[in-house]
Amino acid sequence: MSTTVIPTMLQAMENKDQVTLQHSSRVQQLINLVIPNLIKNNVISHEEVADLWTSAILHDVGKLFVEDKILDSNEKLNKEDYQYMKTHPQRGYNFIRQFNIPAKILLAIKHHHERWDGNNTGKYPGYPDGLKGKKIPIYARIIKIADTYDAITSYRHYKEAKPLKDALNIIKKGAGTQFDPELSEMFVKSLSNSY
Ligand SMILES: [Fe+2]
Repeated sequence: MSTTVIPTMLQAMENKDQVTLQHSSRVQQLINLVIPNLIKNNVISHEEVADLWTSAILHDVGKLFVEDKILDSNEKLNKEDYQYMKTHPQRGYNFIRQFNIPAKILLAIKHHHERWDGNNTGKYPGYPDGLKGKKIPIYARIIKIADTYDAITSYRHYKEAKPLKDALNIIKKGAGTQFDPELSEMFVKSLSNSY
């Protein structure tokens, strides 16, 4: 893998939008807490840890192509801006595939907003492809849970941060619909032990 490109991308993300980079870094840290459990349950191998970390830190790289007025919005996005925001996984994938990066990382970036049940309509749809179950690449399924957990527990201009126990309950509740049920259980177990 071309390692020189990653610091350059992180620098570009930091220049564009520090909130996203801080979020990605927290997602990486959350995944770190679950990695021992993922390895113990043969979800990933030791050799895959570095690629999972890279996927976690780069998962929102497509936000480099989202206008600042949308990223920095102080309010909940309107319909049109939300639709645009939803293009960031595909944009990230299109951008990053020009570099020599393993397919597993590319697919994690593209599919980190898919839902386990494949539902691509409603308030929290899966996108961009409406993939279902194990058709969703494994790193993407892992990132989806950490991503949601961090979104719930973080402050945004338009919403308060919720307590950790609320986030754990949402992960439990979304097991089998939003999230891979087996991974959800591993997250809940690992994160409950960590706080
Ligand atoms: Fe995202």
